[in-house]
Amino acid sequence: MRYALISDIHANLPALNAVLADIEAVDVDATYHLGDLVGYGPWPNETVAALVERAIPGIAGNYDSTVATGYKHCGCRYEDPRQEELSHESFAWTLAHTSRQTRRVLGGLPFRIDIRALGGHTAGPTLTLVHGNQALNTVYVTEDRSDEFLNAMGSALGARSGDVVAFGHTHKPWERVVNGVRFVNTGSVGRPKDGDWRAGYVVLDIGAGAAHVEYRRVEYDVDRTAEAIIESALPDEFAHYLRSGGTSLAPV
Ligand SMILES: [Fe+2]
Repeated sequence: MRYALISDIHANLPALNAVLADIEAVDVDATYHLGDLVGYGPWPNETVAALVERAIPGIAGNYDSTVATGYKHCGCRYEDPRQEELSHESFAWTLAHTSRQTRRVLGGLPFRIDIRALGGHTAGPTLTLVHGNQALNTVYVTEDRSDEFLNAMGSALGARSGDVVAFGHTHKPWERVVNGVRFVNTGSVGRPKDGDWRAGYVVLDIGAGAAHVEYRRVEYDVDRTAEAIIESALPDEFAHYLRSGGTSLAPV
């Protein structure tokens, strides 16, 4: 089975549309999202509606669950006080600009999804989707996490050798195999932080043989998103951040 895994769209509709067109071209059996549909970007309702319209299932990111429950903040991590300030502005803007219908969809997203690539009627590899880790959608599973950390994560999720655990949240793509379990960070569609502004997602091949991961990057109309951010009451810094691939809050 070939799965497209798309994460951290963050209300960036042009990025989502470019990725959906690319998925159409590469041809997959199914597409799943890994959460953080909203936040930072100017199209929260349109992004959620696009996924609902295409019946793309997925899980709740921290932004989705905090918006749906009206939590006090988005559960995001900040590297400095300015980032924290901007993050609060983004959360307030998103709360004010999400419809009741959007919040209903976000509130209905499950925390994790288990997929049996060869069907539940036969033994075979399981693909598990979480946003952060097995306990919280706010935990950052970064590339520098130890093998012990990943092993504990896999065990807690019930993963066995040959299985795949996929997650997002850090906006930086990477993968590693620990004790036969493949850990795959899918990167971010709408807000990459690895210095590459293009929308990122993963095509995962999983079935009878070894799993294979293809990291794809797709160009999109980043100027359209940047201009919409600048025209909105969202902080202009978010436009610079997108254009720089998550490396600068200042114009580059
Ligand atoms: Fe995110």
